[in-house]
Amino acid sequence: MDRIRLVGGNELHGEIPISGAKNAALPLMIASLLTKDPLVLENVPRLADVTQLERILENHGVDVAVHGRRVQTLEGQRMTLQAAEIVDTTAPYELVSTMRASFWVIGPLLARAHEARVSLPGGCAIGTRPVDLFLYGLKELGAEIEIDEGYVVARAPKGGLRGARINFPKVTVGATHVILMAATLAKGTTVIENAAMEPEVSDLAECLVKMGAKITGIGTRTLTIEGVDELHGATHEVVADRIEAGTYAMATAMTGGNVLLKNARAIHLQAALDKLTAAGAQFTSEPNGIRIYRNGNGIQAVDVETEPFPGFATDLQAQFMGLMTMAQGVSHIRETIFENRFMHVAELARFGADIKVDGQVATVTGVSQLKGAQVMATDLRASVSLVIAGLAAKGETVVNRIYHLDRGFERLEDKLSAVGAEIERVTG
Ligand code: UD1
Repeated sequence: MDRIRLVGGNELHGEIPISGAKNAALPLMIASLLTKDPLVLENVPRLADVTQLERILENHGVDVAVHGRRVQTLEGQRMTLQAAEIVDTTAPYELVSTMRASFWVIGPLLARAHEARVSLPGGCAIGTRPVDLFLYGLKELGAEIEIDEGYVVARAPKGGLRGARINFPKVTVGATHVILMAATLAKGTTVIENAAMEPEVSDLAECLVKMGAKITGIGTRTLTIEGVDELHGATHEVVADRIEAGTYAMATAMTGGNVLLKNARAIHLQAALDKLTAAGAQFTSEPNGIRIYRNGNGIQAVDVETEPFPGFATDLQAQFMGLMTMAQGVSHIRETIFENRFMHVAELARFGADIKVDGQVATVTGVSQLKGAQVMATDLRASVSLVIAGLAAKGETVVNRIYHLDRGFERLEDKLSAVGAEIERVTG
């Protein structure tokens, strides 16, 4: 099994190209189910989750062609997806259990094929992650739903889904994606209230508009969708990954140095940049990205609470905790999105970090020096917090089980070594 080996202590200097966002690429790929025409996606990251979703979509009848898959470059891939015909409306357990986002096929399948049988999802073990709000939304659109042997079996009413007013009691990225996609082909108007405003939701909505969908309110808490009879093909470039950018911003804040995060947009990362500034780093927005630097100043303890966008992202919580392990003072980190997202705490402790967890709050007392250690990746974002700690720790760190990292970070070791980190992948 592959591992990452790194030796801490180097500052980071140079440029890191930020890839297309995994969390945008996945719903965009799924949107290909909504039309018989080709959907061309540009800047698709080379990630294990993307390849896995290709397999899932192929099972439904999507023809996937990837240009540049084997090219050794950090430019994104161009992917053409064409669902000329939906040949299977079942998403089986073996495929869905590995990636939660694959559950989202339920929306387009119901909208276009009027039926879907989708296994209840798996994905990162970061809490119970129920699907009740997806089912609530789909029922409002007229679907009949039953749970049968671990599968959600959904049927559209005669004539297809019907527009409705859906008011989510809680902000959910996944259910917003699904209802948005389903509503594009429903009869009449759908209004999604308390919709997720994450940049990935807007990216999906903008692509759907290019495909002929009628959507207003993009980027706000209320999305209005006027159903159309069919969608057509389009070409769309995947938005840059704000979580990858935020991760490398935190790595730079941790080690010190000066790095340009190419393609990153500050507007997608404002809450994190504000916290990094309070912690002693600085940033400037440049025409082609965000420059982050920390020269001389120590890292100060800062409190953080995760929130839906535009608040501080839950997907950056573990990385920020990594940074706070070496801060001056005591930081309180409150996780409000998931109830079990502190699995990195036990691993960070192996570096000598001082962290106590009480319910939703982790209290981090900064130490003056971390020491390299053998650690184990537990979930996608947690694993990269171990890399951040390792970059500043004295001596050698080995991160085991890095298949979690490969799900969401494209060539992490290449990107970090290009800016001066001593880091390599050890295979076998
Ligand atoms: C969430 C994050 C997203 C992140 C992803 C992976 C938010 C709002 N969402 O998206 O930024 O990239 O995790 O880490 O920060 N929920 C229900 N019932 C449902 C659906 C969701 O109770 O049917 C709850 C979830 O358990 C969670 C909250 O709503 O507490 C947000 O869920 P949702 O945004 O859908 O989760 P993801 O799409 O996985």
